[in-house]
Amino acid sequence: METYKELAELAQQHGSPYYIFDREAFIRNFKEIRTAFTQRYPFVTIGYSYKTNYIPYLCQLVRNLGGYAEVVSRLELDLALKIGCPPAEIIYNGPIKSADDIAFALSSGVTVNIDTIRELEFVMHLAGQQPEKTFRIGLRINISLVDSQGKSHLQNDLPSGRFGFSDNALKAAVRLLRDSPNVQVSSLHGHTSSSNRSLWGYRTIATKLAEVGERYFRESIESLNVGGGFYGRPAPSMGLTDTPTFDDYAETICDVLAQYPWIKEQQPHLVIEPGMAVAADTLSFITQVFEVKRIDNQRLAVVDGSIFNVKPTLHQRNHPYSIIKKESGAGPKVVYNIVGATCMEKDRLLQEIESVEIEREDFIRIENVGAYTVVMTPPFINLAPPIVVRGPKGYMAIRRRQDFNDIFGSYLF
Ligand SMILES: Cc1ncc(COP(=O)(O)O)c(C=O)c1O
Repeated sequence: METYKELAELAQQHGSPYYIFDREAFIRNFKEIRTAFTQRYPFVTIGYSYKTNYIPYLCQLVRNLGGYAEVVSRLELDLALKIGCPPAEIIYNGPIKSADDIAFALSSGVTVNIDTIRELEFVMHLAGQQPEKTFRIGLRINISLVDSQGKSHLQNDLPSGRFGFSDNALKAAVRLLRDSPNVQVSSLHGHTSSSNRSLWGYRTIATKLAEVGERYFRESIESLNVGGGFYGRPAPSMGLTDTPTFDDYAETICDVLAQYPWIKEQQPHLVIEPGMAVAADTLSFITQVFEVKRIDNQRLAVVDGSIFNVKPTLHQRNHPYSIIKKESGAGPKVVYNIVGATCMEKDRLLQEIESVEIEREDFIRIENVGAYTVVMTPPFINLAPPIVVRGPKGYMAIRRRQDFNDIFGSYLF
């Protein structure tokens, strides 16, 4: 862990606040999840979820580790190509893809997971224009996470999900596909965001994919994709203890696959799309105390970062943190709120934490901010901070601080 002096040097060089990316932690996470699955099933593909954190340096690391790119927009697809991912190692998901983007992706050899009948019609139209060519597509399957007691385990307890083909839409798709013999379904995709990331959810997803595959696409299936949404390392300070491990997830999913003779025979690839599980604990946010205030009974440390840098979804939980003091601090602990550099009252990076006295120029380091932060930070009041990584020759920047032109370059003056 960096000392005050090291953090201050980085602040001097790059400005405060900033992120530190932990390359070794990312490699460790990636290898751990891969090993958990490959120990149990021979053909495993890891499609890293770009939307979780698309720092190009990190995406390049995924590629070096043999991971595929899981993208959900033309922006992310173009990034994967720019990084040098072979099109065959890109998985293109998402609920809305234009006819042009689908044509571009399919003709380049990208795996496209079709989400709607309209997208399927785009593919069939394309296939009709090029009858000599075979088009292999994936279908996203809508999976119910309602348990036998009628309780939904979907994100936000929603009764049913919005993505992919419902049972009825699937039947309609199968009927439509009879008219396009040069379109084949080679992959089934079942990512379903649950409220609890439980093993039961993955058993449900894997079972549904295995059954749909067996019933409709047995001859053409090359991969079954259960999506992402796994827990990574537990973060006890965020109330996350006893979460399933990578081994638990792998065992649950591979056990389901092992029950289907057609899967044993055909050996489709098992695709997983981890995001949070591999990225969350790889980024720390370093922010410096600008001022300390006392208002009524509240002690406030005002820092140069904002809540958007650590939790853009504005949830209430505190991430793990440490206070790195300029002068060594002793004395009793008191309660602080760490408040940010925007004009929102609710800009509280950390709430009600206990600390020895916090003073101007101390650093506050907030951990586990690698998932859905850099991709979701709005340009609200503050410019997006730089990101540094420790390399063989010391720290280097892998993103500079945003500037005026980054924000206003797209406006017409
Ligand atoms: C299709 C798909 N794959 C993978 C992921 C990654 O999820 P997580 O970051 O929770 O692992 C998501 C997230 O919503 C997703 O929609």
